[in-house]
Amino acid sequence: MTILITGTTGNVGQPTVEALVESGEPVRAAVRDLDDAERLPDGVEPVVFDFTDPSTWAAAYDGVDRMFLMRPPPISNIERDMLPSLEAAQKAGVEHVVLLSLLGAEKNPVVPHRKLEDWLVPSPMSYTFLRPSFFMQNLSTTHLEDIRDRDEIFVPAGDGKTSFIDARDIGEVAAMALADPDAHRDIAYPLTGSEALSYGQVADIFSEVLGRKISYPKPGAIRFAWRMKKRGMSLPFVGVMTALYTVCRLGKADTVTNDLERLLGRPPISMRQFVGDHREAFSRG
Ligand SMILES: NC(=O)c1ccc[n+]([C@@H]2O[C@H](COP(=O)([O-])OP(=O)(O)OC[C@H]3O[C@@H](n4cnc5c(N)ncnc54)[C@H](OP(=O)(O)O)[C@@H]3O)[C@@H](O)[C@H]2O)c1
Repeated sequence: MTILITGTTGNVGQPTVEALVESGEPVRAAVRDLDDAERLPDGVEPVVFDFTDPSTWAAAYDGVDRMFLMRPPPISNIERDMLPSLEAAQKAGVEHVVLLSLLGAEKNPVVPHRKLEDWLVPSPMSYTFLRPSFFMQNLSTTHLEDIRDRDEIFVPAGDGKTSFIDARDIGEVAAMALADPDAHRDIAYPLTGSEALSYGQVADIFSEVLGRKISYPKPGAIRFAWRMKKRGMSLPFVGVMTALYTVCRLGKADTVTNDLERLLGRPPISMRQFVGDHREAFSRG
């Protein structure tokens, strides 16, 4: 039997694959484009898989008993675009699903992750829900250009604090739950970093680690949305981002839990370490 990982080119899928390979587990990595298989670690079996393309499901699920499930950000219609592929997974013999959910999903009926949780709980498959806070990797992807080229963190979060988590830590927990489902069966883990930081504090850490001034101009929601739209981001994506940062501005993104440290047996990766590890990406070269 093998473990199917979805989203293997993504922030969490990638470190999940790496951690499983390191612990000697058999891994099948789902990719939409086989060219992406070149970046997979040795020994990983690639398979073409798309949640919305039924012709890809049988080969992906064949011989799989455990699965890492993530909801690709472009997918919002869970009933139409994800549940049919999960029904196929269950019929094919998948027994345990580790779902990448969202911090607070249990209290928020409108998020797509909640629809996946609500479907999985009564299904015959067992589950582990990973409910992480905001990823540090948003700074090295979505906001990279502002930091690298303009020396600023440009998000409409006011003075609100965020309990940032490094996606690599989530990958490590996902790998643990996939390697030993019995120990993590039907449990939800709220996962956060060890402290909540304002974006002013994050900018100070960037400045210290990178050795140049990174500022946080505290843009309002309209200025932020305008810049992101001008940069070519889709309106729905800009809307979701603006809403997320407004939640933070209102002081609702600062929950800190100790589950991550308890599971990993070490402190979560800090913002300082994250910036240091991505120093090259944040430099203008
Ligand atoms: N960012 C945050 O702060 C945060 C916090 C909590 C929870 N989350 C949740 O985490 C999830 C995102 O995880 P991530 O950051 O690891 O992902 P990501 O880096 O955004 O990558 C998305 C992955 O989904 C794959 N994908 C896209 N469409 C697909 C389809 N139709 N079928 C199969 N695969 C498809 C992509 O493959 P290609 O390379 O082929 O495009 C890619 O591997 C979202 O559900 C998000 O809501 C995010």
